[in-house]
Amino acid sequence: MQENTRRFLLKTITSLPIVGGSVLAMHAILRFFKPTMVGGITGLMAPPDEAGSALQAVAQVSELTKPWDFKDFIYVRKSVEYSSRKWQGAKIPGFVVRLPDEFVDPKDEKSKYVVVQRICPHLGCTFNFISNSEELAGGYNYKAPPPFHPHFACPCHLSVYDPTRPQPIAGSVAGKAFDKLPGKVVSGPAPRPPRTMAFDIKDGQIWITDTEGGGVG
Ligand code: FES
Repeated sequence: MQENTRRFLLKTITSLPIVGGSVLAMHAILRFFKPTMVGGITGLMAPPDEAGSALQAVAQVSELTKPWDFKDFIYVRKSVEYSSRKWQGAKIPGFVVRLPDEFVDPKDEKSKYVVVQRICPHLGCTFNFISNSEELAGGYNYKAPPPFHPHFACPCHLSVYDPTRPQPIAGSVAGKAFDKLPGKVVSGPAPRPPRTMAFDIKDGQIWITDTEGGGVG
C-alpha cells in the first residue's frame, strides 16, 4: 500500500510539467483562433508611424503682389526616427512665384501662386529662378520663345522648367491626387516637373501644409 502511494505520488509529480505544458500550448492555440478584441481592431494596432509637420508660413502675400514676384524659402519636413528624439527634420528648399493674371483663375486665389520644391527631379541639385532671357540662353542653353517670361533652371545638367505650363503626371500630396503639375520640362534631362507643395493662404501669409514625397536625401 505504501509502495502504491509512493508510485502514485511520483507519477503525479512527473506528469505535472507535461500537463502544464499542454495547457499553455492549448491556450496559445485557442488565442490564435479567438484573439482578445478589447478595444476593437484598433486596440491591436500600433499608433500610426507619423511625425506630422506643423504648418509653416513661408511668404507674406504682400511680398508677392506683382507678376513674377518670387520668394525662396526652407520648409522643414518631419519624419519618424527611431531614437529618443522620435523624429528627424529634412530641410527642403522651395520657391513661391506669383503668376501674371493671364494664367490665374479669378475664382481661385491659390491659382495665383506656383509653389514647388527647388530640388531638381533629375539628380537632386538646387535649381534657380531665372528672369533674364540672356542668362537663360547663355547659362542654361535654353532660348525661350517670345514673349519671354522667367523659368526655373538647374545649373547641373541644364534642365529648364516653365512655371506657366502644366505637365501630365500622376501622384498625390496631402492626400489629394493630382494628374498634372506646373513646371513642364522644356529643356534638359529632367524626367518630370518639380515636386509640388500643398499650401493654404491665411492671415495674409502662404502656409505650406505638406509636400510631395521623394527627392530628399
Ligand atoms: S540635377 Fe538638375 S538637371 Fe541634373
